[in-house]
Amino acid sequence: MPSSAGRPKIWMTRRWLEPVMARLEADYDVTVHPADVPLTPEVMQARMRLFDALCPAASDPVTAETLLIPDARVRMIGNFGVGYDKVDTAAAKTAGIVVTNTPDVLTDTTAELALLLILMVSRRAQEAQRRLHAGLWAEGQLGVVLGHSLAGKTLGLVGFGRIARVTAQKARDALGMKIAYFSRTRAAPEVEAELGATYAESLEVLAGMADVLSLHTPGGADTRHLIDERILRLMKPSAYLINTARGSVVDEKAVARALRDGVIAGAGLDVFENEPKIEPDLMGLDNAVLLPHMGSATFETRVAMGMRVADNLDAFFAGREPPDRVA
Ligand code: DGY
Repeated sequence: MPSSAGRPKIWMTRRWLEPVMARLEADYDVTVHPADVPLTPEVMQARMRLFDALCPAASDPVTAETLLIPDARVRMIGNFGVGYDKVDTAAAKTAGIVVTNTPDVLTDTTAELALLLILMVSRRAQEAQRRLHAGLWAEGQLGVVLGHSLAGKTLGLVGFGRIARVTAQKARDALGMKIAYFSRTRAAPEVEAELGATYAESLEVLAGMADVLSLHTPGGADTRHLIDERILRLMKPSAYLINTARGSVVDEKAVARALRDGVIAGAGLDVFENEPKIEPDLMGLDNAVLLPHMGSATFETRVAMGMRVADNLDAFFAGREPPDRVA
């Protein structure tokens, strides 16, 4: 990598963890955006003219309006996340800008978070903790915060990519759950056999059979509000909805109504349609466990994600094909 003024200029929408910053700063001319300045289209467009690569977080919108400016200098977008639904890849292709993501390194961590949500909602952990903090430890009373057992119950996965499969494996091995899934493309027989997974012919069939319905599709227009009032009404009243994928996949108002009216028993949501804003109807419900999009939020994984972006930058600026190119 050139060590002088010839180093590629990269712009990061926020500061990443120190081991990654040290690596990037050794090889690139790095600018980190100040946390208190909103990422408006004007800000993004100005950076498009000044830098060779942009490194956004997976939740930062990189729209056509930004990508298609006529005098752009940026040639690569290194997306910090496996999901890249906020980057308009069609516009990037039109503009000849390469886009990369960070697959694999966050698979286990996100699957762990799906399990955490499954356990929290099924054992009503949040509600029990609230009661405890309020001094309502009901000594001597059975049946105050009764949950539901998971062993032998069916985990229904919507989408059957890497994270879904690892979630299935962990839920089967650690919790003794049975596995079913629906995805547009059916997995190979050996994959189904390895996980003991049953293929559901449709989302509707899966919704009706799952005790826990866990979402693992990409975001974007194709999956927007896939889980709506109709699907929620096909679920068992004792079932739980888990979303560690993208907020746009569920109609949040419909989920809030379903939780309030007992259409389903609970929901564990790590992602929201308008992050960081939360649908107000979801707030304060005892049967909704809400987390701030932290599927990949461990030190190890966030470092690994940053290193993966760095690998892609290195390949791109050395004239090689970046390993995780998605556009
Ligand atoms: C991802 O990588 O897509 C996770 O959701 C983190 O943003």
